[in-house]
Amino acid sequence: MNGKRALLIALTAWSGAAQAQTAEVVHWWTSKGESAAVQELAAGYRKAGGVWVDTAIAGGENARNTIINRIAGGKPPTIAQFNPTSQFKELMEENLLNDIDAVAVKQSWDKMLPVPLQRFAKSGGKYYAMPVGVHNPSWFWYSKEVLAKAGVNKEPASIDEFFAALDKIKKAGFVPLALGGQAWQEFMLFFTLLHTSGGADLYTRVFASTDGKVATSPEFKKVLSDFKRLKGYVDAGSPNRDWNLASAMLISNRAGFQVMGDWVKGEFNAANKVAGKDYGCFPGFGPKAPYLVEGDVFVFPRTKNAQAIKAQQLFALTSTSPEVQVAFNLKKGSLPIRTDVDLSKADLCTQIGMAAMREPGRLLQSPEQIVSPNKAAQMTDAITQFWNTNQSVDEAAKALAAALRG
Ligand code: GAL
Repeated sequence: MNGKRALLIALTAWSGAAQAQTAEVVHWWTSKGESAAVQELAAGYRKAGGVWVDTAIAGGENARNTIINRIAGGKPPTIAQFNPTSQFKELMEENLLNDIDAVAVKQSWDKMLPVPLQRFAKSGGKYYAMPVGVHNPSWFWYSKEVLAKAGVNKEPASIDEFFAALDKIKKAGFVPLALGGQAWQEFMLFFTLLHTSGGADLYTRVFASTDGKVATSPEFKKVLSDFKRLKGYVDAGSPNRDWNLASAMLISNRAGFQVMGDWVKGEFNAANKVAGKDYGCFPGFGPKAPYLVEGDVFVFPRTKNAQAIKAQQLFALTSTSPEVQVAFNLKKGSLPIRTDVDLSKADLCTQIGMAAMREPGRLLQSPEQIVSPNKAAQMTDAITQFWNTNQSVDEAAKALAAALRG
């Protein structure tokens, strides 16, 4: 009996008992691309007989705070989104999540999931989170039309080449760098420069630091200085702009570059733009650039309600199935969590990401996989303060050193 048929039989068996499987799913996917993608998860769940109640909350931090407050307040959703980081560590440690091992063992997640993701999905040998897609928060995106008109005919392979390209785009009358002026996006721009220009070693030493000394080193201050220099290439409409509206500036060929996670691809997909034709992408400077492995998971707030538990398990079964994995991730712009799916028809950027994932030496953890949410928040505050004021590099370095000592 082949895998597909076995899965169909399993789903049918489940769907018979799945009539009452109502799941309230809380997530923060509200952009065009994100909405199109989450509908694929919902479709897979409904196809198996489940009833999907969609609670979308704009903004990752808002959604996570709502989820945590609802769990703490005794009114948890059935299923909730997090990133595979320390964000939900306390929920796990305080026994506020159900494990999903009934599905994980049946589906052999230990063999199926990328090892970097397993680490954040398991506690005490059991799975408490279900990865649904692999995202790298540090990609460079560009409008091919804008770069061609500006005479930029190669992808920058260093920070100096990046500045030279930005200068040409500015001279040609386009917005050189489309940025959403929100703290989390400014922090993402900073830590992307930290690893792709400062280097993987410096990046790792910074986030592992507990005495903060590395933040006052010349090489770290060089990254801070390069980061602030980028401000001269961002348009006045940047403050408080959502990330997908920055992506829209590339889609409409008004801006040259955006530095943002590969969820941007979901926006290009939703606008029917083609990778390699309408837009380009690279995950850092040069062919061996570091590659951050993060993404999205769903957790299963603790409940003793048998129907809710069945809904949690049906969701995990359908969302990790090969069909839903391909349908969801191709729309979301993330990489599937299964290596046994056919991605030969995937776009150029997905192919670049899949190739990077096959080079373990390039893989890095994201900041919130290394430091606590509180320390990440303190570092984000220090960076957004530096970006938005005339604070000096030395003062910013001191503020980051203090955050690292946190
Ligand atoms: C990330 C998440 C992505 C995307 C992005 C922007 O944390 O992993 O799926 O939603 O936020 O909202």
